[in-house]
Amino acid sequence: MIEIKNLNKHFGQFHALKGINLNVKENEIYGFIGHNGAGKSTTMNIMAGLSHFEEGMCIINGQDVKKLAKPGDLNIGFLPENPQFYPWMTAIEYLLYCSKNPNKQKVKEIIEWAGLEQHANRKIRGFSRGMKQRLGLAVALINDPKLIILDEPSSALDPEGRSEVLRLMVDLKNMGKTIIFSSHILSDIERICDRIGMIANGEMIFEKTLASLLHDNVKPIFDIEFRHPLITSQLEKLGNHKDILKVETKDNVIMVQLRQNDLDPKNLLETVLGFDVPIVGFNLRKNNLESLFVKEGD
Ligand SMILES: Nc1ncnc2c1ncn2[C@@H]1O[C@H](COP(=O)(O)OP(=O)(O)OP(=O)(O)O)[C@@H](O)[C@H]1O
Ligand SMILES: [Mg+2]
Repeated sequence: MIEIKNLNKHFGQFHALKGINLNVKENEIYGFIGHNGAGKSTTMNIMAGLSHFEEGMCIINGQDVKKLAKPGDLNIGFLPENPQFYPWMTAIEYLLYCSKNPNKQKVKEIIEWAGLEQHANRKIRGFSRGMKQRLGLAVALINDPKLIILDEPSSALDPEGRSEVLRLMVDLKNMGKTIIFSSHILSDIERICDRIGMIANGEMIFEKTLASLLHDNVKPIFDIEFRHPLITSQLEKLGNHKDILKVETKDNVIMVQLRQNDLDPKNLLETVLGFDVPIVGFNLRKNNLESLFVKEGD
């Protein structure tokens, strides 16, 4: 659906994209992450046919963006980072204006979906940032595109709005659409993405499925809960165990990190069973994206 190879872009002397490779497959939700200034918006503007680049290739839906007569020929839905509207129009007027086949009923439905029904006839000039973002999402969907590119679709939304947008993205995927979106909210990315691409300083760091990213980086930490706290000699036994790298205690729970990812926890389990203290829980700690990207101790 999207095939980007060796994309290079400069802003004057500044090398903003340094040979980006990126692939989005049909019918997946792709999360695009990276710190402020990494190059996400620059890449997405190029995908939408709105920005020039010096070197490389960008194929969207089988179309080479370098050969487009005009960006509108791409038939994608695009929400830019800072969507701009005609402030003198109402939301309804603007959506009709953006429609290839203007249809009042469709506009009404999409306004309801975007949660803007109470503001449908207000001038966009008076819209809040979150309301503009909702309108921008409606614009991205109004022409029923197969591919949807969203640059931080939920950054200005309230928690309810954020959840709605995530739900909508999953609905769109189930309808057969393909979505790429950028976000700094890793829990959102984790909730809905099939694949994740990370960019830093204009270079692609990785592109992986969410499952493999979490699995490959899993730390072998077991949270073991006992009915009573362990005594010092029992803790020492764990601390001296050949399989164990680190032990921490908090009340009745001990956190044990094994030396390697692929170690069978059987020895650990046998050791703690030998303590003769009832065990309430023995769990491998689940990884999440946040814990992968936020360094320990920060
Ligand atoms: N029009 C421009 N002129 C000059 N430099 C620019 C321009 N647009 C972007 N840049 C620079 O290119 C780099 C990438 O910016 P970009 O907006 O793509 O980052 P981003 O990953 O979207 O960041 P954020 O998370 O803050 O939105 C930054 O260093 C930025 O300063
Ligand atoms: Mg950006």
